Amino acid sequence: MPLPSGKRHFLDFRDLSYAELRHLLIHAERLKKERGTQDAPLAGKKLAMVFEKPSTRTRVSFEVGMYELGGTALYLGKNDIQIGHGESIPDTARVLSRFVDAIMLRCHGHDTLTNLAKYADVPVINGLTDYNHPCQLLADILVFEEHRGPIAAKTVVWVGDGNNMANSWIVAAQRFGFVLHLAVPHALRPCAQTVEWAQENGATIRFFENADDAVKGAHAIVADTWVSMGQSGAEERKALLAPYQVNDALMAKADPKALFLHCLPAHRGEEVTDSVLDGPQSVVFDEAENRLHVQKAVLLWCLGVI
Ligand code: CP
Ligand code: NVA
Repeated sequence: MPLPSGKRHFLDFRDLSYAELRHLLIHAERLKKERGTQDAPLAGKKLAMVFEKPSTRTRVSFEVGMYELGGTALYLGKNDIQIGHGESIPDTARVLSRFVDAIMLRCHGHDTLTNLAKYADVPVINGLTDYNHPCQLLADILVFEEHRGPIAAKTVVWVGDGNNMANSWIVAAQRFGFVLHLAVPHALRPCAQTVEWAQENGATIRFFENADDAVKGAHAIVADTWVSMGQSGAEERKALLAPYQVNDALMAKADPKALFLHCLPAHRGEEVTDSVLDGPQSVVFDEAENRLHVQKAVLLWCLGVI
């Protein structure tokens, strides 16, 4: 989403064309290869990182990414700044825009993110909301293509809760042209409008109640926590999702070369077993590392450098 300054927000894959998303991935790959040899394209630039929820990968990848690009990042937990004490999002956006060159936000409601972007004069980057997590999807597409080549026309299977990551995979399926199977209990299906949007725009999205059927012919199987940050009803969710564990028996039903992806953090023994997470088909730590490379590409793109 362009700003009057010509810089851009990064909130949702739907705001970017396929060519723009591909541009980000090409630069992420380049930044990965050139790591340690780069000059400082963001010298003097400051990123505010506002967190309403905890984080390991998002915080560290943005903070290290800014450092490696020559800039600096400020960690602002919700209770470190006045958002936690009732200062409005528009006022926070206006004030932070006077101090920093970009803002990354991890928050609960997606409308908090869009509101911040509406009132900020600097680029706003989505570091995860209850609705989606587009930075993670860039890392996921990158890891798939590093290991298996172009993702277009491949089959990716989402197994578990229809959560923010599931919504993000649905939008990605439309943009990147892969087939998406969703093995999700009926009560936990992802955002219906997002599915409708993707299908109306040519995506192939298929729902399965049964994970065994969904993984037939899969090139990648993707899992995530059964209880996302801020979600209630943990015990009910775990009971509904128990048949959706990714274990050796399920992996054996997919293509033998199917990759296993997980955005992490994983809850070992719940959505995935140790044997799968630590097994030969798992690429989860390459996937986590890729957060750094894609974050750097997103920062450069938002700030108009690439
Ligand atoms: N995958 C991911 O966003 O991890 P964090 O919650 O640790 O940032
Ligand atoms: N669905 C998870 C993703 C964590 C990166 C959550 O929102 O907690």
